[in-house]
Amino acid sequence: MDQLPRVLFSELKIKQRVQELGATIGFDYKGKELTVISVLKGSFIFFADLIRQLDLPISCEFMGVSSYGNKTTSTGEVKLTLDLTEPLNGKHVIIVEDIVDTGLTMQYLINNLQTRKPATLKTCALLVKPDCLKCDVHIDYIGFNLGKEFVVGYGLDYAGLYRHLPYIGILENADY
Ligand code: PRP
Repeated sequence: MDQLPRVLFSELKIKQRVQELGATIGFDYKGKELTVISVLKGSFIFFADLIRQLDLPISCEFMGVSSYGNKTTSTGEVKLTLDLTEPLNGKHVIIVEDIVDTGLTMQYLINNLQTRKPATLKTCALLVKPDCLKCDVHIDYIGFNLGKEFVVGYGLDYAGLYRHLPYIGILENADY
């Protein structure tokens, strides 16, 4: 890793925004139990920070998905690589993503999870790229909107690297 990304959202800025999101979600679900689903791999750091801001009874679940295609674009074909361990029937559920780009992964997840009959199903993404959306997907809780920049850090990777960075940055001059 010979080039460090240019900081777009600092560690402090992310922390403040995650606290705000946690407070909003905590308010919206006051008095309820919540099932929160981390979509692997990218959301694991955001998810870990977000759930620690929630003053609610929480169940944590994990799903793995992969999109076919090359490393920076999605073909829209999404495959489930890891499924939940518990039924969602009658539960209040939030899907937690690190980033919504084309929206195709989130659309797949919503369609898949709706068939399991949750009481409610909402979506949360730390980052959303409104200009890149290829479908009509609604995100209930958004950390930050982005342009078309390719970002890494705080869970997001480039070729498997950079996920551990505590900030979100733009990788300039990368071959992508
Ligand atoms: C990223 C991200 C979302 C998806 C969003 O995952 O975590 O799951 O892409 O893209 P979309 O809106 O265009 O569908 P990625 O496929 O890079 O896998 P990873 O989370 O394991 O890094």
